[in-house]
Amino acid sequence: MTLVDALDPVRIGIVSISDRASGGVYEDKGLPALREWLQQALHNPLVFEARLIPDEQALISQTLIDLVDAGCSLVLTTGGTGPAIRDVTPEATLAVADKEMPGFGEQMRMESLKFTPNAILSRNLAAVVDRTLVICLPGKPKGAVECLSFVVQAIPHCVEVLQEVPTSC
Ligand code: MTE
Repeated sequence: MTLVDALDPVRIGIVSISDRASGGVYEDKGLPALREWLQQALHNPLVFEARLIPDEQALISQTLIDLVDAGCSLVLTTGGTGPAIRDVTPEATLAVADKEMPGFGEQMRMESLKFTPNAILSRNLAAVVDRTLVICLPGKPKGAVECLSFVVQAIPHCVEVLQEVPTSC
């Protein structure tokens, strides 16, 4: 699968959001899982912008803006989608979003529920920030790549539409 015209390099932001992984309590496994999955799934040369940050709403929002400004056409986050007090990834994302893309969250939960009843606890979502597609995945690495696989077919067209230059009539 190609994200944009074959062989065009694609810049992808990957953000692992976890108080404990960013604080060194345990090793972050989210970024390597996303990087590995994307390298196998996409044919374009990929340039990754990776960030490991705590569950701080303002910092998450700022990180998304920074990655948009850095030219990422796609940003994936992992973690902070659940019900815990510190889980604020959806709020941080929607605070800087131009529009939400509800189909992504619906599809991720619908498919995930076939594997785990706990999928109902994830507030997975996707949103458009400027011309960048941001997809928020659950924190467990296996769950994150599972969810990504449920929506990957829709990503190239969405990224392509967002990159289009509007023509005046
Ligand atoms: N979705 C899939 N596909 N696989 C999973 O293992 N874990 C669930 C849910 N969604 C899971 C999943 C659990 S246990 C939680 S608490 C929520 O995602 C939120 O996870 P997060 O707060 O780490 O983002």
